[in-house]
Amino acid sequence: MASEKLTLMLNGKIFTLDTDPNMPILWVIRDMLGMTGTKYGCGAGLCGACTVHIDGKPARACLTSVAQAQGKHVTTIEALEFEGLKEAWNTHNVPQCGYCQSGQLMSAAALLASNATPTDADIETAMSGNICRCGTYTRIKAAIQSVAKKRTEK
Ligand code: FES
Ligand code: FES
Repeated sequence: MASEKLTLMLNGKIFTLDTDPNMPILWVIRDMLGMTGTKYGCGAGLCGACTVHIDGKPARACLTSVAQAQGKHVTTIEALEFEGLKEAWNTHNVPQCGYCQSGQLMSAAALLASNATPTDADIETAMSGNICRCGTYTRIKAAIQSVAKKRTEK
């Protein structure tokens, strides 16, 4: 397919790209721009390992083309404002092999940005698209709850 000159607004910077507009932004982020925090899992929208934020909402980088991302703000784990999430992840010993965790954190951050006091059901729904083969779901839920509690106590 033909390349075109396109731009990608990523982590607050504008990148000019010479690329196929149908290319998933996952490949732009990882291979062209060298930011490898966003992971490739299934490539089919099923695992959540590639979760980024597009205009603040969680999105699958493997299913979002460069054309679809035009004019939108894309944020990856490299620029995420963790606001207590990292500490909570460590306190609750969440990461095991770690492969899914970038995507988990992106989904958790988006949840807490839109819902300061999520219930267990809210957390389960928001995180249901992020698969963890190490089974860290209970720890993730506890970590999210602890961040929500701390933020509402401030
Ligand atoms: S790699 Fe995108 S959802 Fe699995
Ligand atoms: S920590 Fe290993 S896949 Fe989630």
